Amino acid sequence: MKMFIMLISCLVLARLNACVGTGQPLVPALIIMGDSVVDAGNNNRRTTLVKANFPPYGRDFFAHNATGRFSNGKLATDFTAENLGFTSYPVPYLSQEANGTNLLTGANFASGASGFHDGTSLLYNAITLNQQLKNYKEYQNKVTNIVGRDRANEIFAGAIHLLSTGTSDFLQSYYINPILNRIFTPDRYSDRLMKFYSTFIQNLYGVGARRIGVTTLPPLGCLPAAITLFAGAGDNNCVERLNRDAVSFNTKLNNTSMNLTNNLPGLKLIVLDIYNPLLNMVMNPAENGFFEARRACCGTGTMETSFLCNSRSVGTCSNATSYVFWDGFHPSEAANRVLAANLLVQGIPLIS
Ligand SMILES: *[C@@H]1O[C@H](CO)[C@@H](O)[C@H](O)[C@H]1NC(C)=O
Ligand SMILES: *[C@@H]1O[C@H](CO)[C@@H](O)[C@H](O)[C@H]1NC(C)=O
Ligand SMILES: *[C@@H]1O[C@H](CO)[C@@H](O)[C@H](O)[C@H]1NC(C)=O
Ligand SMILES: *[C@@H]1O[C@H](CO)[C@@H](O)[C@H](O)[C@H]1NC(C)=O
Ligand SMILES: *[C@@H]1O[C@H](CO)[C@@H](O)[C@H](O)[C@H]1NC(C)=O
Ligand SMILES: *[C@@H]1O[C@H](CO)[C@@H](O)[C@H](O)[C@H]1NC(C)=O
Repeated sequence: MKMFIMLISCLVLARLNACVGTGQPLVPALIIMGDSVVDAGNNNRRTTLVKANFPPYGRDFFAHNATGRFSNGKLATDFTAENLGFTSYPVPYLSQEANGTNLLTGANFASGASGFHDGTSLLYNAITLNQQLKNYKEYQNKVTNIVGRDRANEIFAGAIHLLSTGTSDFLQSYYINPILNRIFTPDRYSDRLMKFYSTFIQNLYGVGARRIGVTTLPPLGCLPAAITLFAGAGDNNCVERLNRDAVSFNTKLNNTSMNLTNNLPGLKLIVLDIYNPLLNMVMNPAENGFFEARRACCGTGTMETSFLCNSRSVGTCSNATSYVFWDGFHPSEAANRVLAANLLVQGIPLIS
């Protein structure tokens, strides 16, 4: 896999007439928005139950440090930052390191349990997508004050903006809210989320973003907690109904994105598929170097996430490298590495 990533990086670099590392990242900055799959510590600063800044989270990260990342180690976006040639990760915008020149190579605005719909985020006191956008505007002012307007606008237009969200809209809101799922079919609910998505992208474009990658929904029905909550008793298989909803949502995401691309001049907007790479790991674990794709590493592996996955959880595996899932909702570092390799290949149009 490492060879593969190097090969791809080299191909990308070759296009830019430089196949040797120059210490210069491929894009000026990396901006991250979305939910717990990409939150690197913003929720630490919030009053919310959705946190991961305690062991065993982060036990395989640098210095075994629980930073607020919802995994045992690196997130897919950490690998992405490395693959793009950055020597540091985008700082969580709410953290103390988010100041001065640290901001020039990007920032992370994501918040665990936020969704396309601000109502989802509010249920968990997460940072809504609209607030993430406000924080991004504030960030832009800070960068502009440091480097001046012309350089700042170059940074914003050249930066890759990654948006990864939507799982909470379904698993932490739609499926468990009897009112929502009585009013909307999954199809209509997805249409509603598309409106929020479309408005968000137009607003992001409005403040100068020109390179945007948005991840699809994962196979919702294969997340260990979803199997526990939504499969029949004793059924250990992915919940097909949830996966169908995810596929249908992802098709809409693609259509809406094509539409946005056609209507917003100069915008590169790529839909990054994480559904199929993750499904592939779940269905063919051995081929991908895993032996456990149903149970997560943390605790009993059936449900535990955020505060329920803690140092007193009983049954936590000793080594997460052979597990696809770290906790009930989130991939292990090993799975994130595979996802990032896929993101890189799909994201090439954002770099060139
Ligand atoms: C661990 O992460 C926290 C932020 O969550 C940071 O303040 C601290 O310096 C880190 N400790 C080490 C040893 O890296
Ligand atoms: C900027 O961040 C550094 C490192 O966390 C910290 O020591 C410093 O006090 C911060 N400066 C300001 C002005 O907040
Ligand atoms: C996606 O777009 C295609 C072609 O424009 C159309 O036929 C299809 O119905 C659309 N699908 C959805 C789910 O909107
Ligand atoms: C595409 O955009 C147009 C307006 O620009 C809108 O009328 C149409 O409904 C959109 N289609 C989809 C599939 O989003
Ligand atoms: C949508 O899907 C088509 C067919 O798979 C693909 O060619 C296109 O690039 C996708 N659109 C976006 C915006 O990713
Ligand atoms: C986990 O297992 C992998 C391969 O089996 C090994 O390379 C790694 O060192 C182990 N990690 C720990 C923390 O034991």
